[in-house]
Amino acid sequence: MNPRRPVTALYPGSFDPVTLGHEDIARRTLRVADRVVVGVAHTATQAKRPAFSMADRLEMLEEVFADDDRITCVSFRGLLVNFAREIGADVVVRGLRAVSDFEYEFQMAQMNREMDPEMEFIFLTPDAHLSFLSASLVREVARLGGDVSPFVSPPVLNRLTERFREQVEGD
Ligand code: PNS
Repeated sequence: MNPRRPVTALYPGSFDPVTLGHEDIARRTLRVADRVVVGVAHTATQAKRPAFSMADRLEMLEEVFADDDRITCVSFRGLLVNFAREIGADVVVRGLRAVSDFEYEFQMAQMNREMDPEMEFIFLTPDAHLSFLSASLVREVARLGGDVSPFVSPPVLNRLTERFREQVEGD
């Protein structure tokens, strides 16, 4: 017998907040990897002020993936390639929703490869009914009082409702 070494995938992002699209990608990753580390980056390439603190984003991720101990959630500082090496990731996973994602993803993958030629990147597509979904659209719809329950899990929905109720009251 030749027991195979377990494959670790790193799924990095901002997850501000985690959507059903992110969940779908993380769970799909388990079809090609034995464990998934969801890595929440302190530094996002498309710099934007996050709606949720790092602690909140991590808490939501942990609640959403509480049912599967093959998925762990951590934050990381600095370069993705360094963090990937640190945790012994075999592969970095990103979701590709549409052609419009391609340019940004391709640029990042190529830059990361310049920094670490050993690191492999794979791109997974979400289920078709989630292919239009983005955390920024979910935030905007929630902020304006729209119903985002079809797009996020219940723990995230609760946080969004709380977060934007506070904001409206604070306005
Ligand atoms: O969900 P996002 O915001 O599209 O994720 C982007 C993320 C976090 C994967 C990217 O910004 C990243 O890798 N940040 C860590 C810092 C880094 O390595 N930057 C160089 C990227 S080529």
